[in-house]
Amino acid sequence: MQQIEYIKEIAKYGLENDQEKLLFTLNELIEHSKQTKKVNFALQLQSILKDAIRQQQTNGIARLGSAKHVLREEDREVSEFILEKLTSDYRFPNLVCSEPVRSDLSYFVQEHRSIETLRQYDLPVSNKVLLYGPSGCGKTLAAYVLAGELQKMMIVINLGAIVSSKLGETSKNLAKIFRRAATEDCIVFMDEFDTLGKVRDYSQDHGEMKRVVNTILQLFDYLPQSSVVIAATNQKDMIDDALLRRFDLSIKLELPNEIHVNELIDKTLTNSPFTFDNKVKVKKVIKDSVGLSYYTIQKTLLTAIKRSLFSKHDDQRKSQKIQTAVWAELISQERRTLL
Ligand SMILES: Nc1ncnc2c1ncn2[C@@H]1O[C@H](COP(=O)(O)OP(=O)(O)OP(=O)(O)O)[C@@H](O)[C@H]1O
Ligand SMILES: [Mg+2]
Repeated sequence: MQQIEYIKEIAKYGLENDQEKLLFTLNELIEHSKQTKKVNFALQLQSILKDAIRQQQTNGIARLGSAKHVLREEDREVSEFILEKLTSDYRFPNLVCSEPVRSDLSYFVQEHRSIETLRQYDLPVSNKVLLYGPSGCGKTLAAYVLAGELQKMMIVINLGAIVSSKLGETSKNLAKIFRRAATEDCIVFMDEFDTLGKVRDYSQDHGEMKRVVNTILQLFDYLPQSSVVIAATNQKDMIDDALLRRFDLSIKLELPNEIHVNELIDKTLTNSPFTFDNKVKVKKVIKDSVGLSYYTIQKTLLTAIKRSLFSKHDDQRKSQKIQTAVWAELISQERRTLL
């Protein structure tokens, strides 16, 4: 179908108030625009669509990892090696982290925003970043933040499928994904990057795996400067040294300290009606939560909110107080699992 036909349909469904068909046709047009290399137009449409969807969703607790911040693409061409394609509207304020981490990430973004200036002076652009650190500390989130700040589409590679593939086509497929990312100006995101290293333990064909690692090394070496590759792992030591050396930037995302936990709570509860019933006790719980991940702390807080809500009588329910004692108990349960 031609672009003009899509526009006619969109006008028709819009006037008829047929949301379902309207969204369907709009998505078709986005897909058509990408295929006809009108990527910018596709991104603009996508962003309009995303804003509209977000507006329709009710305000509430800002679960930073909630799906409303990423728009997953339906992509007919997605191969089994691509987990998903998405655009993200996460931004730096969504991520709680230390100052050095924030500054590393923002320099990285700045380099890509100023790519022409760097080119003028023949300066290399950092385009390969490794995010590492314990589970639940924001590696995947940081990748979404980079995609959101750079306003680029992100292709998430399914490394699991790649390493378990017996096709012998693996290297070719990886090269294809990288080429496609370069022409479409997408970010390539290899989450759980350690999967590549783990293969040595499996009863896998060693030669095939070596080929995959070598392919990635080559792809990294010949990556166009405007392309961006992000890898994330919670087991950096499983990764081949040769691969580690290829990254321009390695950023460690760590467990939160008390200040970070405070910030996480503030961000989580902004726009929500919930407050703690005992401010003094909250301070103690925050102290106790040090050693746990952002993910666990946020998860227990949300559980505490739900339990507080259910335990209240109807008239008290309106007060929307979080029972700090409930949260304290959940945090101490989590701490016990660490021992
Ligand atoms: N630094 C952070 N700032 C704000 N929220 C965070 C942070 N880290 C984790 N979270 C919350 O926890 C969720 C899970 O975090 P995320 O998936 O980024 O962790 P991860 O480091 O990738 O963990 P894993 O190694 O298990 O993949 C996020 O979506 C977010 O809600
Ligand atoms: Mg992750």
